[in-house]
Amino acid sequence: MYRNILVLVFAGAALGQNSLPEDFTRCRQKDSKLSECLKSAVPDAMRRMKKGIPLLSVPPLEPLQVSVINIDSGAGPVTITQNYRNIKLHGLTDSVLTFYKADLKHYRLRTDSITPKMEFLADYVMKGRILVLPIQGKGIANITMVNLVVKHDLIGEPVTRDGQLYMHIKDYKVKFIPQRVILYFSNLFNGDKRLGDQMNMFLNENSDLVFNELKDSYEKSLSSVFQEVTNRIFDKVPMKDIFIED
Ligand SMILES: *[C@@H]1O[C@H](CO)[C@@H](O)[C@H](O)[C@H]1NC(C)=O
Repeated sequence: MYRNILVLVFAGAALGQNSLPEDFTRCRQKDSKLSECLKSAVPDAMRRMKKGIPLLSVPPLEPLQVSVINIDSGAGPVTITQNYRNIKLHGLTDSVLTFYKADLKHYRLRTDSITPKMEFLADYVMKGRILVLPIQGKGIANITMVNLVVKHDLIGEPVTRDGQLYMHIKDYKVKFIPQRVILYFSNLFNGDKRLGDQMNMFLNENSDLVFNELKDSYEKSLSSVFQEVTNRIFDKVPMKDIFIED
């Protein structure tokens, strides 16, 4: 008898972990303004996730840490092999959503966000060529994107586990459209200050070109980070507890 009660208590505690934190705004599936609701609920939730959600193993979003990004840029005017480690993304939680479209019947979410200032800070190693100039270095990189518009396209699929329906995100696509990109690499050319300053100036004068060549790799790497963070929640919290069913 006592044992049964204990089992119930622990089952209850375990279930309790698999819900969104109490202070998150809930949106209802049947609400005709579901997309409107999510448009404000999602950035609000992100601000509440600055320090992460330990119970769901959601990592802190401010800054969001990424272990490694490797970029092997092929042909074209910018051919630079780049390795980034200990990446920290600052500014994500200041994002606002300008558009949200939830099509839950097809497990599809599309949203546009704007981040006033997204700082990408990392240890870098790079070697290659930009236009006719050789570039190489090893130090700290600061890639700052100002008024960054990100188009997110989340393609989910239904997964049933223990009689519960979950919305697993199987594909997460992003497009980055920054208004302005400011690049800074410390310690270029083995610390030669004159060459380093000149190269940083050159990179910034050509930042559209430089960024466009690297955009695909950044998008691919960061979309998999966003996918991972989303699935930390979506794989653990049943769909009806994220998008409330009446
Ligand atoms: C990164 O660069 C931006 C733009 O120049 C600057 O505002 C910011 O302070 C830099 N961050 C760090 C940690 O140096």
